[in-house]
Amino acid sequence: MSFGPFQLDGTALPRYTNRMSTAAQPAYDLTATYAENFERGPRFVSTPEPPKVSLKWLLGQPVGSRFGIAAGLLLNSKWVRAYAERGFDILTYKTVRSRKRECYPPPNWVFVEADEGEGPVYVTDQISGNPADASSAVCFGMPSMPPEFWREDVAHCKEHLSGRKMLVVSVVASPEPGWSQAQFADDFSQCAAWAVEAGADVIEANFSCPNVCSAEGQVYLDPALSGEVARTIRGAIGEVPLLLKVAAFPDTGCMRDFLGAVNGAASGVALVNGIARPVLHRDGRPAFGDDFVKAGVLGRIIHRPSVEYVREARAMVNERNLELSIFAVGGASQAEDMADFYEAGADAVMMGSAPMYLPNLACEIKASHPEW
Ligand SMILES: Cc1cc2nc3c(=O)[nH]c(=O)nc-3n(C[C@H](O)[C@H](O)[C@H](O)COP(=O)(O)O)c2cc1C
Repeated sequence: MSFGPFQLDGTALPRYTNRMSTAAQPAYDLTATYAENFERGPRFVSTPEPPKVSLKWLLGQPVGSRFGIAAGLLLNSKWVRAYAERGFDILTYKTVRSRKRECYPPPNWVFVEADEGEGPVYVTDQISGNPADASSAVCFGMPSMPPEFWREDVAHCKEHLSGRKMLVVSVVASPEPGWSQAQFADDFSQCAAWAVEAGADVIEANFSCPNVCSAEGQVYLDPALSGEVARTIRGAIGEVPLLLKVAAFPDTGCMRDFLGAVNGAASGVALVNGIARPVLHRDGRPAFGDDFVKAGVLGRIIHRPSVEYVREARAMVNERNLELSIFAVGGASQAEDMADFYEAGADAVMMGSAPMYLPNLACEIKASHPEW
């Protein structure tokens, strides 16, 4: 696998971010705002020709490969289409809402030093020699364009994707004070219905977000609420597959209760979201400001625990004959990581952060593992 130049350029760093060599051109520009990245689309040095591979089946649908990009990096149709051209077949449109929501102020994404403990992680300007070993942390707050925008934009994606691509649209509710559980579920299902109408092949309901403090960030920890929301969405989207995105469970009992509660309504689970840890500068300042000391950490740092969550989920699904597919997420940035997930029982492997700094991954993985 070739990584190309990837050292820091040594020039003065902007206040809010660490910065990699412009020669490497990470697709998402950490020195720019979310709005600028949204507008411009990904930055690529070149576009490789993806190898041809045989057709696979997932969630009852045909797809070019059983791996893709998790909710996050694909901010809009410019991002979806550009990564589709680079050989990624499962493309998740970043989480959208029933109303416009601004992004938190920058920084929103920083690289961190990897350690697998539970304490703070520290911002680094240095990426280790091999970018596949990089870890990072994000704090965006699940921004969304208004529905008028994203419904049209999802339709635009669908129009330009071939039949071998699977367009997943991630949705979340935007609860207001005093809302009942039913209103909360209806807001989720409204977004899901709009996404299906626009052409989504699969809906992913985001039941977890390490960086929002309101109810939508922790749905998965409440099995009864999870079941109600999943059933309400199912009622709104007919036969379209429904994935539920969850984060780390505090214990196996919680995971068991959750899977039991959503079985029958959901088609699968995507696990795990970023793992929440304090993200600090070396001098102790919180990297994302005082309001967001903890944020979701991603990449190498979470790969081993993510594989164990997938293994546990697979054991529970098999043991109880649940009808749930498993989409593995967490630190997949090379073939070995994907092999870990498939061996642990994943039906598909999704990458969150790695395709930003390793945009040729789909081509490389397809060349070495056409069977995936
Ligand atoms: C830039 C960025 C934005 C993200 N935004 C979302 C989001 O809107 N919804 C969501 O469910 N997950 C979001 N995530 C989390 C990813 O889907 C994924 O769970 C996480 O990055 C862990 O995977 P990784 O270790 O492969 O990066 C985001 C991740 C990144 C890198």
